[in-house]
Amino acid sequence: MDEISGLAEMRAWSRARARDGARIGFVPTMGYLHEGHLRLVDRARECGDLVILSIFVNPLQFGPSEDFARYPRDLDRDRALAAERGVDRLFVPDARTMYPTEPSVRVTPPEGALGDSLEGAARPGHFAGVLTVVAKLFQIVAPHVAVFGRKDYQQARLVRRMVDDLDFPLTIEVAPTVRDRDGLALSSRNAYLSPAQRRSALALSGALGAVETAWREGLTDATALRDRGMQVLAAPGVQPEYLALVDEALQPVRQATPRTVALVAARVGVTRLIDNVVLGDGVAADPTVG
Ligand code: PAJ
Repeated sequence: MDEISGLAEMRAWSRARARDGARIGFVPTMGYLHEGHLRLVDRARECGDLVILSIFVNPLQFGPSEDFARYPRDLDRDRALAAERGVDRLFVPDARTMYPTEPSVRVTPPEGALGDSLEGAARPGHFAGVLTVVAKLFQIVAPHVAVFGRKDYQQARLVRRMVDDLDFPLTIEVAPTVRDRDGLALSSRNAYLSPAQRRSALALSGALGAVETAWREGLTDATALRDRGMQVLAAPGVQPEYLALVDEALQPVRQATPRTVALVAARVGVTRLIDNVVLGDGVAADPTVG
């Protein structure tokens, strides 16, 4: 598997393959790869002939008090995992190449619940940083299809919206959340957790599981469902930030339906974790993981 770090080289490679008739699948990541990322590679492979995976820890999407400097990085391990999974090209630009100067033009997320609620409220500027780098990566890589994870539900909705609103000539695919055997959603940030914190972190998927179970049993009132989840989320060692039931536009719902999404954010120690479930999908682990 070859690796490209230059923007012009990436652009030229991708354009040449497309001219040869190849359909190009793209998986943008910040690295420290896990099975969740690798399932996106599988999906990209199903949708295309060649798969490009990018690794770039994007400074623009981290707030000043967030974990940019200590975000986990292990490029050698990532290279091995990507090659094993059949990635055709690894794209690893560095920050000076991506941002020779601080970008003055950025993609602004929409006003309203989609851009401003939940993660948008908790992390000011985060989604502008995400959309700006994703827009740049789309311009450089020029994929036919790009694959995102449902784990970052609001991010995936925003990327889709950007692609629609700004007419990017590509398709967005969203793949299900991959969980560990105990239900914890895989995340690069899980590397921060001590064994005890990791056990506490199960409160997130546990809370979503409680919401989902109560809903399956017939409870549809969103406030009552939220209360069920909060009872589980408020566990020792966990500082809940939000648990919300929303529709696909991230608008709060009063009555839950099969399209309703329950989203949760909490801190375990200094580590901030998020998770979600689309009602009806469940939070059970994939038996092939772990
Ligand atoms: P990162 O957190 O590395 O995630 C890269 C992609 O993997 C995202 O689409 C994310 O939703 C997906 N992903 C992460 N954990 C997952 C899991 N357990 N199951 C399924 N998919 C999972 O998200 C980012 O990077 C960045 O914001 C990025 C889009 C690369 C822009 O910088």
